[in-house]
Amino acid sequence: MKIRYQLWLIFAGLFITFSFALYMVIANSYEERLQAGYEQIALAQGSIILDKVAGTYPESQQRSIGYLQKYSEQLKARLIVLNEDKSVFADSFAELKQGTTLKLAILEQEGYASDFLYTDDFGYLQYTLLPFKAAVNQGYLLMIQPAEMLYAELSSFRYWVLQALLLSLLIFFILSYVVSTWLTKPIGQIITALKKITPRKRFFSLTYRRQNEIKELIDAIQRMVEELNLYDERQQRFLSTSSHELKTPLATMQLILENLPYVRENEEKYLEFTHDLTLQVQKMKQMVEQLLQITRLGKAPLKKEIISEQDIGEHLLQSFQYLAKNKNIVLQFKLQKAFFNVDKRLFFRALDNLVANAIRYSPAETVVTIKTKSLKEENIVSVFDQGIGISPSDLPHIFDPFFRANDATAWSQEGSGLGLAIVKQIIELHRGKITVNSKPEKGTSVYLTLPRPK
Ligand SMILES: Nc1ncnc2c1ncn2[C@@H]1O[C@H](COP(=O)(O)OP(=O)(O)O)[C@@H](O)[C@H]1O
Ligand SMILES: [Mg+2]
Repeated sequence: MKIRYQLWLIFAGLFITFSFALYMVIANSYEERLQAGYEQIALAQGSIILDKVAGTYPESQQRSIGYLQKYSEQLKARLIVLNEDKSVFADSFAELKQGTTLKLAILEQEGYASDFLYTDDFGYLQYTLLPFKAAVNQGYLLMIQPAEMLYAELSSFRYWVLQALLLSLLIFFILSYVVSTWLTKPIGQIITALKKITPRKRFFSLTYRRQNEIKELIDAIQRMVEELNLYDERQQRFLSTSSHELKTPLATMQLILENLPYVRENEEKYLEFTHDLTLQVQKMKQMVEQLLQITRLGKAPLKKEIISEQDIGEHLLQSFQYLAKNKNIVLQFKLQKAFFNVDKRLFFRALDNLVANAIRYSPAETVVTIKTKSLKEENIVSVFDQGIGISPSDLPHIFDPFFRANDATAWSQEGSGLGLAIVKQIIELHRGKITVNSKPEKGTSVYLTLPRPK
């Protein structure tokens, strides 16, 4: 069911409940007020004749009946005089015998009393009981009057109130429909705007002036769509850069292959060509592997385990000692006790990239240092080199996929520019941080900061 109708029903339900309660209160208090008025009148009427009646009681029943009949006609009421024990003494209708006991609730009360009762034979009746003191005994006057007028008045009042309530219910129904439509209108507009979004056309715009949750919702959707577009743009750019970067070694390979037949006779040239060819194939293979890594990162959950500074040292020594020795670079370890809660395979891949860079971008006779350090909240692994460094203008770009500084391309043929992009993603997956300090021709330091295992 639409929210609009739900709201409408809730409004209407509340109104009906409320107006029913109101109706009950009004009708009851009106009835009480009417009855009080009738009581006043009956008491006034009764007290006028009370003296006369008291004079005849309890000597002569016949004289008493005579009086009662006279007033009975005047007041249009049946008048009964009761003894002290509330048995009948005299009845204006001369029907009830002396000494009869009446079964009436009002007789149970002390002093003045008034009651309204519905009887099948006479409709609504008003009973009024008035005590009086006679010469010897105490007696009572019971007045029984028709109260049809009161109830006719009451029911016409009820009818009037009910009509007024029904009318206001109708007005309220219409009003609450308008209000709930107005309240839920923005939701409909949001849905319409959302439905217009297609994979090709991601655009969401809706003007809404008031400051409330709906405005927040609209802003949140707008931000989400913008971010999606940004993400999409980045993906597109990555895809086109990737294809472009893959084309470069392919073009080189094509050129070599086209020229290969002409150098068949020249063995030296031939070997040089095939060697270049192998290099290009290797480069492409590495690039494709790294591209695959980038697209797969973050898809599978991290398989975290605790590793120590020793694990890190052993792994790096094993992986890089020969490469370093070949390039005449000293690998140095300064390991403080520190534990890392990481996906070992990914974390080592990140470290491998950093140490490979340090070795690749350093001349011979230099030192590459790997340090670990434990702080209060976080642990750090850092890699220092004394290599070519990175110029301040290149520094902001080194994490972009395929970015390679000019100095770097001149220095080393190898490298795809994907390494640091991968490292950054891996570290961010671990909720860590990567920072780089570098001075051209002095060296570079890279810090990986990770939260301390709990
Ligand atoms: N230790 C370093 N010394 C000097 N330059 C570096 C170092 N590490 C990274 N760089 C610069 O950052 C660029 C991006 O690094 P990376 O993504 O690992 O790509 P690649 O190593 O394949 O060139 C490198 O091309 C280089 O310009
Ligand atoms: Mg690299």
